[in-house]
Amino acid sequence: MCRTKLTSRLLAFILLFFSCSVPLESKSYKNGLVVTAHYLASEVGKEILQKGGNAFDAAVAVQFALAVVYPRAGNIAGGGFAVIRTSGGDYNSLDFRETAPKAAYEQMYCDKDGNVNSDLSQNGDLAVGVPGTVDGMMKLHQKYGRLRWGELLEPAIKLAEEGVVLSLLEANKLNDYHDQIQKQNKGKSLVPYLREGLFREGDTLSNIALARTLSRIKASGRNGFYEGETAGLIVAEMEKHGGIITAEDLQGYQSVWRVPLIGDYRGHKIISMPPPSSGGVALIQLLKGCEMYNMNKYSFGSFEHIHLMVELERRVYADRAAWLGDPDYYQVPVDRLINDEYLENRFATIEMDKKTNSQDIKAGSVELIESFETTHFSIVDSEGNAIAVTTTLNGNYGSKVMVEGGGFFLNNEMDDFSSKPGFPNQFGLVGGEANAIKPGKRMLSSMTPTIVEKNGKLFMVLGSPGGSTIITSVFQNIINKIDFKMDSQQVVDAPRVHSQWLPDEVYAEAEALSPKVKSKLEELGHIIKIQNKIGVMADIFVSDSGEYIGVADTKRHKDSRASGY
Ligand code: DON
Repeated sequence: MCRTKLTSRLLAFILLFFSCSVPLESKSYKNGLVVTAHYLASEVGKEILQKGGNAFDAAVAVQFALAVVYPRAGNIAGGGFAVIRTSGGDYNSLDFRETAPKAAYEQMYCDKDGNVNSDLSQNGDLAVGVPGTVDGMMKLHQKYGRLRWGELLEPAIKLAEEGVVLSLLEANKLNDYHDQIQKQNKGKSLVPYLREGLFREGDTLSNIALARTLSRIKASGRNGFYEGETAGLIVAEMEKHGGIITAEDLQGYQSVWRVPLIGDYRGHKIISMPPPSSGGVALIQLLKGCEMYNMNKYSFGSFEHIHLMVELERRVYADRAAWLGDPDYYQVPVDRLINDEYLENRFATIEMDKKTNSQDIKAGSVELIESFETTHFSIVDSEGNAIAVTTTLNGNYGSKVMVEGGGFFLNNEMDDFSSKPGFPNQFGLVGGEANAIKPGKRMLSSMTPTIVEKNGKLFMVLGSPGGSTIITSVFQNIINKIDFKMDSQQVVDAPRVHSQWLPDEVYAEAEALSPKVKSKLEELGHIIKIQNKIGVMADIFVSDSGEYIGVADTKRHKDSRASGY
């Protein structure tokens, strides 16, 4: 083809695509590998493995280290999910999702006219769910850990005492959120994340209050958080600033072992998170849709690839809104949702030359927020144990509320409930009865920690932050590997696209759509919005010879790191 006939944009796309498809160096390791969103946390995990800890010990140490080095998402007062595959081939999943406090009720964010005040579900003390992380880490350690509990807390305590050197990303994030953090923490002392001047790359930030809280957790396990001094500090914060979490709520919190959701995709076994995450169900629905429509016969980035993906996502996210919620409070029809016959009918209306319109909702559409305040880490050890953990405060720095004297942020996970049927949350996700607020109930999540097996052997460990885009990011990484046969680095680097039924829009990273594909999609009526980045993966791949290859998504998040040995 004559070069002069190409538009400069098309040429740029081809170059970008080509640079994406040139294999980059991804190192392989034999003994163990830790991929997290922060290089210091990855090093902590690797050191625990080198000391003789297993992947589960390393996960506990990484979770606590992230609370220090990555305070906008790493946490002790948030929650998350872990998907596990042991070296013996057993599967498990741990739900340490937050719960609604006992005094919560369905209309708690609505005024007397029934209008939702999202500021209350997103910021300040009323936005906080009862934290699950510390109980989750205890249960994980009790069941699978090998090293002493205290040893797993030591790296985090040391980092909090000695201080963390701020990366450019973290300094900028603290500066961006300065006003919001200040607003929620007026008059409090010891808020290390607030200062007069700007934070700069290279500044050292210690957090003595957090070191003390972590030391209490080291000494007393879950009681170091849910009882005694730490619990007292949380309850005092609630009483002073209009929150509703009580000492009883804290004492009563329990994380839950759940049977993971397992599906098949073209000869691979997909092991993912069941409700109260929507991740596993949606992922398996999407993959089954790809199988029905033979995604593997299309090329990456083609019109057919993007259109099919968007049409599947439209239907899957509509199901999510109607049917998914906490299974302990709402009968979630999981089996039916991933049933082949059901999905054949559900996807039968997809046409390759026609866009389906998402149905209207009363609430207006909201902008998708580019947010990376959840975090995912993947770990494997020398024995072949694997764990995928996604953990979050929900928004950046959660509710922005710091517990005075405790040194940690509280989550704003209550916003993941449906505050009112059809009213979108911060990710534009809608819901109804299945995800309505009830005391003690867990809010629906999109977090999708996932493990993939091939021929009975560990093949991939993966996950991402990104709110509603988590599911589609994980989904795309799996089809990039299995259908488009990319190498490990390409799987993560390849540009991503996201759609979620409502708003009726397609979000695409800039280089995801060639001009030709973009105009063809627009001709059919797809509304395309360019998004700076979608998802931040932390993936581990296992080669045919059994070596571990870690790919941190440094293209989208510079601080991410794979540390292996
Ligand atoms: O559980 C969920 O689905 C959300 N709370 C996750 C939030 C998130 O991923 C934020 N940013 N990346």
